[in-house]
Amino acid sequence: MKTKIALGLRALALALAVTAAPAFAADDPVKIGFVVKQPEEPWFQDEWKYAEQAAKEKGFTLVKIGAPDGGQVLTAIDNLKSQHAQGFIICTPDVKLGPSIVAKAKIDKLKLMTVDDRLVDGAGNPIESVPHMGISASKIGEQVGEAIAAEMKKRGWKPEETGALRISYDQLPTAKERTDGAIAALTAAGFPKANVVNAPQAKTDTENAFNAANIAITQNPKYKHWIAFGLNDEAVLGAVRAAEGRNFRADNMIGVGIGGSKSALNEFAKAQPTGFFGSVLISPKRHGYETSVNMYEWIKNGKAPPQLTFTTGQLITRANAAEIRKDMGL
Ligand code: GLA
Repeated sequence: MKTKIALGLRALALALAVTAAPAFAADDPVKIGFVVKQPEEPWFQDEWKYAEQAAKEKGFTLVKIGAPDGGQVLTAIDNLKSQHAQGFIICTPDVKLGPSIVAKAKIDKLKLMTVDDRLVDGAGNPIESVPHMGISASKIGEQVGEAIAAEMKKRGWKPEETGALRISYDQLPTAKERTDGAIAALTAAGFPKANVVNAPQAKTDTENAFNAANIAITQNPKYKHWIAFGLNDEAVLGAVRAAEGRNFRADNMIGVGIGGSKSALNEFAKAQPTGFFGSVLISPKRHGYETSVNMYEWIKNGKAPPQLTFTTGQLITRANAAEIRKDMGL
């Protein structure tokens, strides 16, 4: 009887010791996962690059994982757990995975932060408990629309003769906010809303944007000129390539993207200007470096990251890209 009680007490003490033990001991090596939805996209490669910089400076291990679909996200989280990571930052391939990602991180005792695309719950509302860094999507979309409107005016294009390609991906809230922002600025500048042609892309890459734009241009032969905007540079590049295929070149196309990384710079570096007029430069450094440092501080020193951060952007064109990127520390 006595031994039974003693054994019971011992088991209880052990169980308490396990639950009371801190998840992280001060001298444990810090390991942080950085999971992205589209590892081939320059934006995400840049984010990883700046996250690596943080890892070097702070002395933690960074585990980079590309996860283009939901299954791969869940595997990535388990994988991080088995590698003894203490937390991860993610840009998910589908924001509706929100509740599953939150649940999985909790079971695996991993700290969770999101970047770029904010998780939503079953009702489509942002999951506010997860610290997030994203771009000020509506504002940056407005900057795109303002840049296009100013260039149209400079060229003396008649709005009624101009079609607008809205390369859309409305299932992603930040994408919808960006393109809605562009439309708001364009219409405020007098662009007719009826001339906005919605061109939904099946995936957020150049190829899918190209296909979407191609259909939209073919179905609207009446326009003399085109303008284009979308979620990112890849979306606008797809539209620019499709327009070229229909003979709308630099003098009849004004596309303004969002990103300002390699995709945009390659375009500006071409000997002849293309329809890709500009891009709103956003900061992969803040999104990669700052989120990683925040996660490190959270794990190492228990300092919780800011709950919500929205970063800004700045228009770049062929004329000023190098200079502005330098000012931004890129
Ligand atoms: C989304 C887009 C990326 C990039 C980021 C910036 O994730 O898919 O191309 O624009 O937002 O936050």
